[in-house]
Amino acid sequence: MSSSKPNHLNHGQEHGQKHSVDTSDERVLELPKIQIGSVQLDSPTALAPMEGVTDRAFRALIRGVGGCGLTVTEFVSSESLKRNDRKAWQNAELDPNEHPVSIQIYGRDPQAMAEAAKECEGLGADIIDLNLGCPSKQVTGGCSGSALMKEPKRAQAIFKAVKAAITIPMTVKMRLGWDHDQLNATEIAYSAQEEGAEMIAVHGRTRMQMYRGSADWSAIKAVSDKVSVPVLVNGDILNAQGALKALKESGAQGVMIGRGAVRDPWVFKRVNAALLGQEFQEPPLEERLSSLKQYFDYLVQGVNSEKHACGRIKKVIGLFTRGLPYGDELRQEIFHQHELANIYQATEAYFARLQSEGINQFGKLYDATPRSIQLDERSERYAVYDLT
Ligand SMILES: Cc1cc2nc3c(=O)[nH]c(=O)nc-3n(C[C@H](O)[C@H](O)[C@H](O)COP(=O)(O)O)c2cc1C
Repeated sequence: MSSSKPNHLNHGQEHGQKHSVDTSDERVLELPKIQIGSVQLDSPTALAPMEGVTDRAFRALIRGVGGCGLTVTEFVSSESLKRNDRKAWQNAELDPNEHPVSIQIYGRDPQAMAEAAKECEGLGADIIDLNLGCPSKQVTGGCSGSALMKEPKRAQAIFKAVKAAITIPMTVKMRLGWDHDQLNATEIAYSAQEEGAEMIAVHGRTRMQMYRGSADWSAIKAVSDKVSVPVLVNGDILNAQGALKALKESGAQGVMIGRGAVRDPWVFKRVNAALLGQEFQEPPLEERLSSLKQYFDYLVQGVNSEKHACGRIKKVIGLFTRGLPYGDELRQEIFHQHELANIYQATEAYFARLQSEGINQFGKLYDATPRSIQLDERSERYAVYDLT
């Protein structure tokens, strides 16, 4: 691979140099664009892949709100696709007008990963993302996800096989390493680039940290310095200030936001406004409620059981209301509900209460949230998380 540095930010910068996003007081006039191979992101922001959350319905919500440069599916198991598992195919389904979108796959067998990548290209994905970050035992137990960071040779074989199987860009999402004694994100990222990866996203935690402590954005700087392809900084970015700080500390070209986007689907617009030095216009409460309702409706069309829909909706409402007044009351109220109609009703009543009390400046509430995340030690799964 050529060692010349391509230009990933197309806002009038010199060709042949990779630049960090300008987060100084002199704001940019135009949003920096990120070039991932043939795919251009119009905003330096991406939605993080989240199992059980970033399904078609949720991605449609994010697109409807706007501002997000790239959406990513929840992870799809290459082995499950091979077995023709219906759920895996469902997880990889895209909307025809959803672009740019990336399908994330995971697994440990290079051939199965290559076949899965090819199938996903056929489904209309613009990008194939490889998961080297998932800490869940369900995934690492099968020695994929972040466990691959302990096997750089196998990871390299996967990069090579996938790259050879597809014509669209390949990207990789990883953690800082397996644990603090094995911080090898820089080497893995470089190896991925050498095998043709065109963007790297790094969650600033090790696998062993799971979701404990805080993401270390500055540790990602070494990756940004080493590779010439764009790097996205990920982990604990909850608002515009956080995004600017993460960009500065990591030297990354863009931000990838997960839980912060479930809590506040407008976070991408907030980040864009901050980069442009503009004031963000808070959406009215009605817009929040109608977006959430559209999400409910979309979700119900796409799932096969009310129980499944209720589970996903609870997860999203759980995050949507973090840091908001009376959010804990709503969460408690819907926790034991198994009927969609009751969840709708409780959510409407919640918004009506906020409306009657004149609570609508969500940005200020979000900015006041402390930057800490608690992990549910019992499950060691992704599904339980906290932002307060
Ligand atoms: C509910 C949930 C599901 C997740 N599923 C995935 C996944 O499928 N693939 C993946 O690479 N990371 C997954 N992650 C990790 C996120 O993509 C992201 O790296 C992590 O949450 C840190 O970013 P955040 O603080 O912005 O949420 C998941 C995280 C959560 C909270």
